[in-house]
Amino acid sequence: MKFEHYMPVRIIFGWGRLSELGEVASSFGRRALVVVGRGSARRSGALDRALDSLRRAGVEAEVFEGVPPNPTSTFVDEGAEEARRKGCEVVVGLGGGSSVDCAKAIAVAAVGGRPVWDYVTSEHPSGALPMIAVPTTSGTGTEANPYAVLTEPNLKEKRALNRPPFTYPKASIVDPELTLSLPPRETAVTGMDVLFHALEAFVGKRCHPFVEAAAELAVRGVAKFLVRAVKNGGDREAREGMSLASTAAGMAINGGGTTALHGMEHPVSAHLNVAHAEGLCALSGPYLKYLAEVVPGKMARVAEWLGEERAAERAVVAVEELKEELGLNLRLRDLGVSEDMLETLTNDTLRVMGHNVANTPGEPDGERIYEFFREAM
Ligand SMILES: [Fe+2]
Repeated sequence: MKFEHYMPVRIIFGWGRLSELGEVASSFGRRALVVVGRGSARRSGALDRALDSLRRAGVEAEVFEGVPPNPTSTFVDEGAEEARRKGCEVVVGLGGGSSVDCAKAIAVAAVGGRPVWDYVTSEHPSGALPMIAVPTTSGTGTEANPYAVLTEPNLKEKRALNRPPFTYPKASIVDPELTLSLPPRETAVTGMDVLFHALEAFVGKRCHPFVEAAAELAVRGVAKFLVRAVKNGGDREAREGMSLASTAAGMAINGGGTTALHGMEHPVSAHLNVAHAEGLCALSGPYLKYLAEVVPGKMARVAEWLGEERAAERAVVAVEELKEELGLNLRLRDLGVSEDMLETLTNDTLRVMGHNVANTPGEPDGERIYEFFREAM
């Protein structure tokens, strides 16, 4: 066995710990750029509490608001300009994966001074502002890995800015209380992202024992708590369980990466701007069947973690049933994909997300990828 494990993020987990943001931020600087989305952090009161905590610790805050659901490189460039102009020394990403990823990318581009897409594709960053992640969803796990997923709107490409150590948060405050106000649909969708992160990292070729341990923690958490959190948003035990599962899954992909499922989804949301995990749900049926054939032993373990009998096909059925229960039994067609797009989506998967395909057991070729898309219609 041969592997490396690197996860340099200080994880601050627990109820009410948003109040510690100011203290954490003050160790990095006196002026913070607080990156938020289009209103939910403001409506829920999370933004006010964050600003209050910063103020009490003597940190001045500049709010950079309006991160779109699939954050664009152009929006990041505006944020980086803002951070430079205001002399910000630390960046806080408060919100769902979009806001946190946007903050990661702003932290890099603010120091480097070039358009962020250069750092996505070729340029190595010269540094980054210290960045603090404060997730308000249980989904991306970005609080525990170096990925910031961005879309280049002109190229219609969705790629991860992945430049460790610069794209790791210095600290992540994972406060389950922030997820209490997340509506049922968002809870369901982001929760499925958690499941697929864990599953993909585990079946992927780069899986190692720490990835496996994190994946098991995450899948067991989803099995136990996701439906509960969706049905009763105020179920604190379930919310905490999902926060933990999300961070664990983030750690799983930190080491193991994702596979062709995420590889196929990125082109879908790059072209159609759909919610990431809705795309994953739509594509997962045929992909999981494939995994049950290619890595039956691993899929049998996933079935067991999901509370099923230890058999590969049970994992496939259990995920289908979970999607059904959550109202996420989607087809690609429901998301606006048409037959004539399948070739482009296949080519983009291979061209833009080839590293994900290479991490997939059995390494499906272009024909197989096309089949996944077709079967998912
Ligand atoms: Fe994801």
